[in-house]
Amino acid sequence: MRKKITVVGAGNVGATVAQRLFERGYADIVLVDIVEGLPQGKALDMLESGPVLGTDSTITGTNSYADTANSDVAVITAGIARKPGMSRDDLLFTNMDIVGGVAEQIAKYSPHCILIVVSNPLDAMAQQALDVTKFPRERVIGMAGILDTARFRTFLATEVNASVEDVQAYVLGGHGDTMVPLVQSTNVAGIPISNLLSKEVLDPIVQRARDGGAEIVGLLKTGSAFYAPSAAVAQMVDAIILDKKRILPCAAYLKGEYGIDGLYIGVPVKLGANGIEEVIEVELSEEERANLDKSAAAVTELLEAMNNRTDK
Ligand code: APR
Repeated sequence: MRKKITVVGAGNVGATVAQRLFERGYADIVLVDIVEGLPQGKALDMLESGPVLGTDSTITGTNSYADTANSDVAVITAGIARKPGMSRDDLLFTNMDIVGGVAEQIAKYSPHCILIVVSNPLDAMAQQALDVTKFPRERVIGMAGILDTARFRTFLATEVNASVEDVQAYVLGGHGDTMVPLVQSTNVAGIPISNLLSKEVLDPIVQRARDGGAEIVGLLKTGSAFYAPSAAVAQMVDAIILDKKRILPCAAYLKGEYGIDGLYIGVPVKLGANGIEEVIEVELSEEERANLDKSAAAVTELLEAMNNRTDK
């Protein structure tokens, strides 16, 4: 029997995630949304691409969580997206309610699933999903680091005129303005990036990666990025479904690792059939360490705003 994957939110990110996963052919997909007809229509359209693509998986659209029962993996993309001028943090209370409600339903029908959270502000929404589902931390993972790292790698590969595959980098920290690209360990086929690019060239690239999401929002005007985010989600799902034990930067709930306790933040983790199988602690420079603490403080601020919310 094929694995079962639920994607909640049939908007830009969710539908593209569903498409990428359906085309993998290793799982049956259920696409959920509150808007009637939207997930059904998109799922049927994708299903009808199966004969052309040679995919025998099924994809179903629904407004009912009963159809998601016994999923192996669930991806939450439900929520509102940024408009120009908005930060991810401006989405906090609206998406907190949406993600909370969705996570509750997912936990009810698929108590053993691995949950990937995509809705923003990412680290706070992962926390919300963990609190609501009461799943172990291994099974509630946030998608951010792969995307932030992919943006960084894209710009670096263009600058050094090398394959994106040969540019290795990590972006840690919260998924926001305080994200932390690890410049010291960034390399092109093993050659440190600092040997290839001067600080004057590198600094604006780091900043562009930090602002990568806002750059897309500014261009699109009516929504936020979804092609690169959905590719990042699919890479996480691959690692879980195929038990690849890939080491990828994801938002994980830390219990003392990196000196951070009780907080979601982007760090390298080993992803396999059990979800997060290990939090990998890499050595950080003093500056990177300080930036990670700053990033953790920004995430803490959001959590405090959620806890102190008065309109609950
Ligand atoms: N249950 C299910 N679906 C919901 C709910 C809910 N309670 N509330 C909203 N949705 C659906 C909307 O109907 C819409 O189809 O979520 C979808 C969101 O789609 P888009 O508006 O296209 O947003 P998208 O670009 O996909 O971003 C979704 O991911 O990257 C993050 O910041 C982004 O938080 C945003 C989320």
